[in-house]
Amino acid sequence: MNILDQEFQQFHHSSTANKIELFNRDNHLFDLILSQQLDRKVLDHIYHLTCAMRKISKSKKGHLFLQNRLPHKRAILYFAQPSSRTFLSFESACHLLGIKTSDIRDLSLSSEVKGESSDDTIRTFSSYAHLIVMRHPVGNMAERSAWLLNTHSNRPVPILNGGSGHDQHPTQAMLDIYTLQRSFSSLEGLDGKTIIMCGDLKRGRTVRSLTYLMKNYNNISLIFVAPPQFQMGEDLLEYLNLHQIQYSIESESLKNVLPQADAIYMTRVQDEHDQQKGESAQIDLSNFKLSVDDLPLIKEHGVILHPFPRRDEIDVEVDRDPRAKYWRQERNGMWTRAALIAHIFGVDGEILNYFEEQSDSPTD
Ligand code: CP
Repeated sequence: MNILDQEFQQFHHSSTANKIELFNRDNHLFDLILSQQLDRKVLDHIYHLTCAMRKISKSKKGHLFLQNRLPHKRAILYFAQPSSRTFLSFESACHLLGIKTSDIRDLSLSSEVKGESSDDTIRTFSSYAHLIVMRHPVGNMAERSAWLLNTHSNRPVPILNGGSGHDQHPTQAMLDIYTLQRSFSSLEGLDGKTIIMCGDLKRGRTVRSLTYLMKNYNNISLIFVAPPQFQMGEDLLEYLNLHQIQYSIESESLKNVLPQADAIYMTRVQDEHDQQKGESAQIDLSNFKLSVDDLPLIKEHGVILHPFPRRDEIDVEVDRDPRAKYWRQERNGMWTRAALIAHIFGVDGEILNYFEEQSDSPTD
């Protein structure tokens, strides 16, 4: 252990409040590393900003207005793990705001292969960019990177966590909340809803980050549907108990609880985290899939989500059902990430002003 390892361990084992204090500046997001940084005020703000940006971009004039917000900024997309959606949506989000991007996706082309440490790698990226978006297979790597730049660098640039080990994926949770709120806009939003989370809950960083966000909504009820080996971790259950959020565990079959749900959030097996090759394949998941035969069991206003990529946990035939919102959810990722970046760089006020001016204008 070097001195940085020791100092980071001390930080890592400190309270969540201490971490939020470092990752936020003056009660404003600077880095986004943990879902717990997102309170209801920020989530509602991102929701309204996202809706405004979508509408603004429908005209060429509006599109150019957005592109003119941050043309003086550069971002590095450091993806040390495979990604389609998170990478492309962040890249598109940057471009929507005029930010220029560079990416590091193939680590064999990074000087890490010459033995450079992750700490030095991140400090190097911060020399060339105003924003770093990162995905890393090692848990807590985004947290460590943000801690390092905030405490040991004279060039702390914001870090956005695009997925860290099997810990957290906060921007996915943010776009999931946006999709849920939008889907339930005629039903008073997400408050009071029952949500099924199904699949590999133990190692699924999207469900973990989404679960943390439930504290921001009233009278939510969660149903964790998974075989015992993949059930939600004790740390999250403790968190739910602490915040008096109602949950139940269903370990036999998705069908048993489908009629109760307003939203069903399906996930795939995260077998890239298997300790031994092929161990996940030994677990029978046949009762934890959604097929067209299950659709009559789902409420008329029910919403089916999946962070993707999917395998066979949702039959492709389900895609035709209007309650299947996962393709829309995927696209929402680009807009919510653009809103997040606009918020972080403080151009959200001018975007909302422009939106209001255009809405008031009789000619546009
Ligand atoms: N949902 C998600 O994180 O997808 P990717 O792995 O394709 O980025």
